Amino acid sequence: MPNTQRILIIGSTGQLGQSIHAIEGNYPQYDMVFAKRKQLDLSDAQHITEYFKQNKFDVIINCAAYTAVDKAESEPDLADKINHLAVQQLAQIAVQQQAKLIHVSTDYVFNGQQHRPYIETDAVAPQGVYGSTKLAGEQAVQNTMVNNAFIIRTSWVYSQFGNNFVKTMLKLGGERDALTVIYDQIGTPTYAHDLAEAIMSMVNSQPFNQASFKSQLFHYSNEGVCSWYDFAKAIFEHSNVQCKVSPIETKDYPTPAKRPAYSLLNKAKIKDTFGLSIPYWKDSLKQCLINISKC
Ligand SMILES: NC(=O)c1ccc[n+]([C@@H]2O[C@H](COP(=O)([O-])OP(=O)(O)OC[C@H]3O[C@@H](n4cnc5c(N)ncnc54)[C@H](OP(=O)(O)O)[C@@H]3O)[C@@H](O)[C@H]2O)c1
Repeated sequence: MPNTQRILIIGSTGQLGQSIHAIEGNYPQYDMVFAKRKQLDLSDAQHITEYFKQNKFDVIINCAAYTAVDKAESEPDLADKINHLAVQQLAQIAVQQQAKLIHVSTDYVFNGQQHRPYIETDAVAPQGVYGSTKLAGEQAVQNTMVNNAFIIRTSWVYSQFGNNFVKTMLKLGGERDALTVIYDQIGTPTYAHDLAEAIMSMVNSQPFNQASFKSQLFHYSNEGVCSWYDFAKAIFEHSNVQCKVSPIETKDYPTPAKRPAYSLLNKAKIKDTFGLSIPYWKDSLKQCLINISKC
C-alpha cells in the first residue's frame, strides 16, 4: 500500500477553501489539512518558515490571497506580501519538501483589450495592484519550480460561502426595488464548488501523479459568457427576487482599481489535459442559489 498523500489547503476559510473542505469526504485516500490564517499567516515570512518546520506535505494547494481588489490600491505592500512574496516562499518550501503545488491566480492578470478568450500564453498586462501582485506570484512559482507546480487562473468566483457578487445582489435585491449594474465588463462566473471539483480531479489525475511534471498554467471558469448585468439578471430570475436591474457603463461606476473589460478564459487546455467537463454558468448558479437558500 502506498503512503497516504498529505495535502495542505491554505486559505481554508475563503470561498474556494471552504468549497474544497465541503467535498473532502469524496477523497478518503488523502489526508487533507485545512490551515486557517492564525495557523499559517501568509503576511509573516517568519511564521511561514516556522509552520513548515513543524509540518510536511506531499501537496500544497494555495487558495489564500489578498482578494480585496479595490482596497489593494491603497495597501500595495500587504497585497504584495500575500499574493507574491508568500507565494514565492511557498514555492521554495515546496521544492525543499519535494511537494507538488497548486496555486490559484486570476483573470485580472490580463488588460481585457482582447476580443477572443484568453489562452494561457497570451500577453499579460494587469490593470491594478491586485492583478500585478497575483501576476508576480505566478511568476515566482514558475521561476522557483520548473517542475511540479500547476497554476490555475480563474474568474468571478462566487459560492454560498463568504462575500461575493451573488450574495451582494441577493442582499441589495431584497432591500431595493431597482439596481444599476455594469454591462460593459464581459467574463464568466466561476462557482467555487466547480473549481474545487476541478482541482481535486487534477490532484487525482495521472499527469499530477507522475514522479515529476513540467510546471504550467491552466485557465478555469464555468462555460458560457455574460456581463455583470446579465449575471445580476440571472441571479434575480432564478431566486424570484423582484428587483429591476438597469445596465450602466463602467465609467458610471468608478472604482479605485481598473478592471479588464473582457476577461473570458479559454478552458481548452485544462479540459483536454484532465478530461474535465465544465458546467454552464447558469446551471451552476442555480445550484449555488439552492445551496444559499439552505444556509
Ligand atoms: N473571488 C474572486 O472573484 C476571484 C476571481 C479570480 C481569482 N480568484 C482567486 O481565487 C483564489 C480563491 O479566492 P476566494 O474567492 O476563495 O478568496 P476569499 O474568499 O477572499 O478567501 C481568501 C482566503 O485567503 C485567506 N487569507 C487572506 N490573507 C491571508 C493571510 N495573510 N494569511 C493566510 N490566509 C490569508 C483568507 O483568510 P481569512 O478568512 O482569515 O481572511 C481566506 O481564507 C484566490 O487566489 C483569488 O486570488 C478569486
